[in-house]
Amino acid sequence: MYKPTLFAMLAVSLALAACGKEDKAEEASTPALAPDVVAEMERQEQEKAIADLVPGTDLTSRQSGYDVYVAKCISCHGDAAQGVGGNPGLAGLSRADIAVRLADYRAGKVAGPNAAAMAAAAADLSDENIQALAGYIGR
Ligand code: HEC
Repeated sequence: MYKPTLFAMLAVSLALAACGKEDKAEEASTPALAPDVVAEMERQEQEKAIADLVPGTDLTSRQSGYDVYVAKCISCHGDAAQGVGGNPGLAGLSRADIAVRLADYRAGKVAGPNAAAMAAAAADLSDENIQALAGYIGR
């Protein structure tokens, strides 16, 4: 999903462009990309990867899987989907697994002692949210 080569090339060419402009700058100051620039580039890579997964997705009107995960899932499933407390980890599930399970929880089809918490978490997810989450969490 993440394309390190493309990202590295972009980073290098930006760094080179910055070098050219600041020829007279002090030798010691290595041009570094500001963290927010890096974060924005990574976000765009991720958006592209999700758009590839869901053809025809409108990037301007859809929340990314990352945004939805942070807003609605991270508290129970953890910052690396490793699971927190009694809540299961999600690492290793395929995109299809994630999409099908979320749709089933949303529809109230999953029974079990802990299913209610997950049904509540999935209740207001849109189809687009589910696709984006599957792209973000799934293998
Ligand atoms: C309140 C805590 C809580 C929140 C918030 C929550 N979950 Fe869960 N999740 C659980 C629990 C508990 C289970 C296990 C439910 C069961 O036993 O059926 C679960 C199960 C799952 C499963 C199925 C795992 C498997 O191995 O079958 C997936 C996928 C999942 N959650 C994704 C998400 C996503 C995506 C979000 C955010 C939209 C989310 N969860 C938000 C508690 C939570």
